[in-house]
Amino acid sequence: MTAPRQPVDFTDVQGLVRFGHSHLPSSVFHLLWVKDASAARAWLGSAPVTSAVSEGGRPEQVLQVAFSAAGLLALGLEEGTVGGFSAAFTAGMAGDSNRSRRLGDTGPNDPGQWRWGGVEAGVPHVLLMLYATQARIVSWQEDLFNASFAQAFEHRFALPGGLGDGREHFGFMDGISQPALDWQGESPPGGHWRDAYTHRLAAGDILLGYVNEYGLYTDRPLLDPARQPAAAVLPPAAEQPQFRDLGRNGSYLVLRQLRQDVPAFWQCLDRAAGGDPARREQLAQAMVGRKRDGEPLLQAADRNAFTYDSDPAGQCCPLGAHVRRANPRTGDFPPGTSGPFKRLLRTLGLGSPSGRDDLIASTRFHRLLRRGRVYGDTIDLARALLETPGDADGDDERGLLFVCLGADIARQFEFVQNAWLNSAKFAALRDESDPLLGNRQPLPGALHSDQFSLPRAGAPAQRIAGLPQFVQVRGGEYFFLPGLRALKFIAGSER
Ligand code: HEM
Repeated sequence: MTAPRQPVDFTDVQGLVRFGHSHLPSSVFHLLWVKDASAARAWLGSAPVTSAVSEGGRPEQVLQVAFSAAGLLALGLEEGTVGGFSAAFTAGMAGDSNRSRRLGDTGPNDPGQWRWGGVEAGVPHVLLMLYATQARIVSWQEDLFNASFAQAFEHRFALPGGLGDGREHFGFMDGISQPALDWQGESPPGGHWRDAYTHRLAAGDILLGYVNEYGLYTDRPLLDPARQPAAAVLPPAAEQPQFRDLGRNGSYLVLRQLRQDVPAFWQCLDRAAGGDPARREQLAQAMVGRKRDGEPLLQAADRNAFTYDSDPAGQCCPLGAHVRRANPRTGDFPPGTSGPFKRLLRTLGLGSPSGRDDLIASTRFHRLLRRGRVYGDTIDLARALLETPGDADGDDERGLLFVCLGADIARQFEFVQNAWLNSAKFAALRDESDPLLGNRQPLPGALHSDQFSLPRAGAPAQRIAGLPQFVQVRGGEYFFLPGLRALKFIAGSER
């Protein structure tokens, strides 16, 4: 059943959903294990978690908090309650080998080798995300981590991060293309009402408890206050108001620590370019799908409002470029669909869709809200061309603390990672996966994934073969970033 659309209540949403906190250049993500559940609940109940309200200016320090499924259980939530979250969340990122295979977490990315999360290191219970200025972050951290914190949690990992001048470590502007949430619930979600690409996205595609682009709700626990009186603190479920909604105003949060081998990237491109700096730069741009300053590779009036419809063969922006895989951008109706009759045929799945259309239609159902931060020291191109690939490891490594938010981990993060980025068969390409992220070690019987094609006008595509792996997974987990009322409920949970 579809309930009336409602504007989002910012007082109950953690700030990270609305803002990237880009005015606070320093961040530390802390991974905690619950040591004493009642002390942990007490600490969480008084933690100064920042909401998405913008009145009163931008905060000087921000605290956000999220929980894994194991963490919610450790804090005392009933199994039946935690079981109401989505299957992907309860299973966890490294929960089974099938999921790991789909995510490309095999070979060098195998969870058995992760520094945190996964099989050996164990699933963290709580993710605390602190954002502040560089001058403030350490003292603020000391204030937060008081005696009751030490009694409540075992603190095993701290992942410091930053903004890196807006660039990731390969040297490209990041965080340009994001969905624009329909906070007021103004657009009619559900059904195929539009046929042009747009960044506008129903709130329910990122926030739990609101209608999504299908006009539906994604999985989250709905609690009966007659059975669990403490649930009265939660907002009512929009579609079944007799229940209280533990998910409402919260979101699923995916965290992956991705180590980047910057020397391997630039030296590989240097070899492919025969040492020609201009060609090397061109190849890097082609792999990313944007220029270093974020400009798109095809002619566009705006750096973000464009589609690839004018470049169907990928001669301007290769079909396999990172940004084109991560968001192929063609909306519900690929080019050529116009008029009510054709639209009806496509809606019913009739007509003659090409393979390309099948794979990349309806990209709006697979959008991610990215909130990542870079970690480790930056190196410039000259150093990257000299240093030994693979050397930066452990304390001196660099990479991306990839964070994305969404209301459906399987349809959003896992689909993009598996079907678009990781797939060695994407948009008529073969034997290649994402040029930046691809796991180059094929599974037995699977296609190779170490090539990259550059389509050319009037000539066969140029193929670069034997790409080494540039990005390695070092840790990861799925978390629930609760609304503030849900946080109160969690802090008050006792079995
Ligand atoms: C070290 C790893 C990664 C690097 C260096 C990287 C780099 C970039 C860069 C430079 C952009 C272009 C700027 C922008 O449009 O915001 C971009 C866009 C994007 N990336 Fe990544 N990325 C990484 C990992 C990932 C992962 C793991 C995912 C998803 C599973 C992802 C999804 C996206 C998406 C959705 C876009 C926007 C595409 C668009 O809408 O045009 N990225 N990335």
